[in-house]
Amino acid sequence: MSRAVRYSEFGDADVLQVVEVETPQAGPGQVRVAVRAAGLNPYDYKVRRGEYGKVRPLPSGQGSEFAGTVDQLGPGITTVTVGQEVLGWTSFAAQAEYVLVPEDTLAPKPANLDWAVAGGIGLVGNTAKRATDAMRLTPDDTVLVTAAAGGVGLLCVQFARSVGAAVVATASETNHEFLRGLGAIPVAYGVGQLERARAAAPAGYTAMLDSAGRDGVLLGLDLGIHPSRINSIAYQPGAEEFGISTIGGGKKTTAELAWLARSAAHGSLQFPIRATFPLDRVQDAYRLLEKRHGLGKIVLTMP
Ligand SMILES: NC(=O)c1ccc[n+]([C@@H]2O[C@H](COP(=O)([O-])OP(=O)(O)OC[C@H]3O[C@@H](n4cnc5c(N)ncnc54)[C@H](OP(=O)(O)O)[C@@H]3O)[C@@H](O)[C@H]2O)c1
Repeated sequence: MSRAVRYSEFGDADVLQVVEVETPQAGPGQVRVAVRAAGLNPYDYKVRRGEYGKVRPLPSGQGSEFAGTVDQLGPGITTVTVGQEVLGWTSFAAQAEYVLVPEDTLAPKPANLDWAVAGGIGLVGNTAKRATDAMRLTPDDTVLVTAAAGGVGLLCVQFARSVGAAVVATASETNHEFLRGLGAIPVAYGVGQLERARAAAPAGYTAMLDSAGRDGVLLGLDLGIHPSRINSIAYQPGAEEFGISTIGGGKKTTAELAWLARSAAHGSLQFPIRATFPLDRVQDAYRLLEKRHGLGKIVLTMP
């Protein structure tokens, strides 16, 4: 037997339980990974609260990304070996002591990469890369990145800076120093944000990467950014309502996952961890995430 996060009804973090389950056994084409770290994402709690409709079969597992050690191979596995440290993606299953996945969802974990970073970078990395690439930024762009201290936003800032674009980033003041260190101009969101954002880029903006939601998109529109140059991962109805683009996470490749891991290990990508919690404290971990404030990623870790 082993432990896994489950919920049997939709609701707030109180419905999350850590239960004993049969330890999964690797079948043909499957790899079993002993999980060391599994990231939290807002998608998890939005589904669990029923915000996308009560569409999950219950009881449901939780978690889309993990890092751990390969500990069992089903027949036909050729690209990973028992004992190898890996990171990977899955669906509603990562927050458990063991996950079963196909081998093409795994990438090698660099030895010097922190477990929490490895277990938390997969989903936000894929999302931020696709969202930023979709805008085809150049050094001539001045980009507004909203919710820039969040898991996705802080990577969008770095991807935009890496192509030479100027970046203005909205965040609470406590996160400004970090964003400055990434080469962005930080501005506080909230009352007066329009004036502050204007002052930060007097020549105006050419693009926006939004992770804040409808209010973020409205800020971009108020700043005169053309809707076709606004990409929001946090307000899907904006496509119909405002004609903006809503390109976020999607097709994932192990090459991309390996690149994210190498970049974080090398330090060319910064990926701060806001907090780690043991599996047993999954409720507390989500209560913190659901406050929607703080720098970086929250991750469950297992010894
Ligand atoms: N479409 C997709 O594929 C996709 C994929 C991943 C995530 N998402 C969505 O993208 C959003 C962000 O995800 P995440 O993982 O980055 O979340 P997160 O790590 O929880 O980020 C929360 C951040 O939001 C900031 N924030 C809170 N209220 C704000 C406001 N009113 N204006 C500006 N910033 C505000 C906070 O900044 P301060 O701490 O500085 O206050 C905090 O750093 C979520 O809605 C998530 O569901 C979509």
